[in-house]
Amino acid sequence: MRRIYKSRKFLILCYTLAAALVISAVFASVSAAASPAKEGQGYTVVAKAPIPLSEIAQKFFAKPNYWPAIMAATNRKHIEDPSFTRISDPKSIKPGWKLWIPNKEWADGFMKVWTPAKPELLFGVGPKGQLVVASWWTAGGEAEGLKALFDIYRSKYPDVEIVNATIAGGAGYVFRAVIKPRLIAGDPPDTFQLHAGLEVEGYSPETYLTPLDDLYAIEGWKNVFPPDLLKLLKYKGHYWGVPVNIHRSNVLWYDKSIFARAGLIPPRTWDEFFDVCEKLKAQGIVPIVMGTKGGWEAGHVFEGILAGVLGAEKYKGLWTGATPWTSPLVTKALNIYKRMLTYVNTDHPALSWDGAGTYMIANKGAMMIMGDWANGWFMAKGYTNYGWAPVPGTKGIFVGLSDTFCLPKMARNRDNAIAWLRVCGSKEGQEAFNPKKGSIPSRMDANPSLFNKYLQSAMRDWKTDAIVPSCIHGAAAIESWVTDYKDAINLFVATGNVSATQAALQEASVTAGVGK
Ligand code: GAL
Repeated sequence: MRRIYKSRKFLILCYTLAAALVISAVFASVSAAASPAKEGQGYTVVAKAPIPLSEIAQKFFAKPNYWPAIMAATNRKHIEDPSFTRISDPKSIKPGWKLWIPNKEWADGFMKVWTPAKPELLFGVGPKGQLVVASWWTAGGEAEGLKALFDIYRSKYPDVEIVNATIAGGAGYVFRAVIKPRLIAGDPPDTFQLHAGLEVEGYSPETYLTPLDDLYAIEGWKNVFPPDLLKLLKYKGHYWGVPVNIHRSNVLWYDKSIFARAGLIPPRTWDEFFDVCEKLKAQGIVPIVMGTKGGWEAGHVFEGILAGVLGAEKYKGLWTGATPWTSPLVTKALNIYKRMLTYVNTDHPALSWDGAGTYMIANKGAMMIMGDWANGWFMAKGYTNYGWAPVPGTKGIFVGLSDTFCLPKMARNRDNAIAWLRVCGSKEGQEAFNPKKGSIPSRMDANPSLFNKYLQSAMRDWKTDAIVPSCIHGAAAIESWVTDYKDAINLFVATGNVSATQAALQEASVTAGVGK
C-alpha cells in the first residue's frame, strides 16, 4: 500500500513538473513575441532578406493572419508621414522599412471589418480621398499597362491615394462574382473594369451605374472612338463605360524558331493547320497549347473556330438569332475542335492562359490561340520569338472586344473616379497603357509608332476587317448566355459529344431569348 502510495506521489510529482514545463514553455513563447505599445509603435524591419508581413504579425500579435492590420496602420501613417513605408505587397517586406504596429485594440477592431474583397481598407486616405480601381489585370502586360495609367493619374492628382483593387482570374469570371455583391450592397469600388457590349446587362446598369453620356460629350469622345466601337458601347441608349483599348480574340500565336526549324509556315486553313500539327507531333513538340483552368479559355478558342468556319456574317448571326446553332457549320466547327483537342497539351486543366504560354517560351509548344493580351504577356516575359496569324479561316475577320471602366452610382470618390475615366479616354493615357497591355488604342488619333509590329498590324486590320463581337469577353451576348455557352464548351472538351453540345448551344440561345 505504502509503496503504491509512494509511487502515486511520484507520478503526481512527475505530472506537476511536466505541466509546469509546458506552462513555462507557453509563457516563454508568448513573451518572445514583442507586443505593441499602448498607442502603437514604429518598427524598422530587421531581416536579411524580404520577409512576409505575416511574420511581423506573428512577432507582435502572435497571429500571422493579423498582417492586414499592420498593413492598414502603416499605410495610414504613411499618408501623414512619408518616412513610413507604403506597403503594396504584403508578401515582400524589405529590411529597413519603417512600419507602424497598431495597438492590440485597434488591430482587433480592424480584423473584425477586414475582408479581402475590399482592399481599399488596407490603404490610407489621401488629402483628396482614394481612387479604388477594380480590375482583373494581374498577369504580365496587364499589370504593367495598368501601372502606366496609374502613373499618369498620380502625376495629375498626387493627393489621391490610388488603390489597385485587383481580383485575379483571366477574363473576369472571378472578378464579376466579387463585384456584384459590392454593387448591390451599395459599397462598390470607385470604378471597375467592364467589357464593352452586352456584359453590362449583368450589372443592371440603370440601377447601379451612372450613364456617361455627358462625359462623352464634354470630352468629344464620339469623334475619336471608331463607330463600330461606339455602337458596341451603347446599351439602352447610354454609354456606361470609357474604353481604354480594343483587343482581338482570334489570334494564332506561334513560336518562330520551332516553325523555322520544322520548315513550316503558319496555317491559313484547317487542313493546313492539321498538317502542321501532325508534323510537329512527329517531332515531339506539343502542336497547340491551351490552359483551361479559368473555365473560359476553351470557349475562347471555340469562338475563333466558329468565326473561321462560319465567316463574319453567319458568325454574327449566331448571336442575333439569324444563324441557328443547329447549323451544319456549327457541327463542322465542333468536329474541328474535337480534332484539335487531340493535339493539345494534356495538362491543360491545370493551366491558366498565361501558364499555357510558358510552353511556348520554353520552346515546347508551337501554337496557341489566345487574345492579343498574350502579346502583352510575351513582352513582359521578354519573349520575342513569337509570330502571329489570324485563327485559320479568319483572315479579314477581327473578333473584337474592348475593356472599359465604369462609374458605379454609389462610388464613394466620385470626382476622383471621373478624373480617372478622363485619363482612360485620353490620348496620353491610351498611348501609355496600350503598348504595354498588348492592345490597340480605342482612340483613332493615337500615334502608331509607339506600338510594336504586332499591334501595328492589328491597327491596320481593325480598319479593314469585318468586326465581329467576342462572346467570351462580353461583347456579343448577355452574361447568362455566355455562362451557358462556356459551360457547354467545357463539357464538350471533356466528352467530345458533338450532337449533345450543339443541342445545348441551341437551347442556350433560346433561353437567352434570341434563338427560336
Ligand atoms: C479579357 C480582357 C483582357 C485580358 C484578358 C485576360 O477579358 O478583356 O483585357 O485581360 O481578359 O485576362
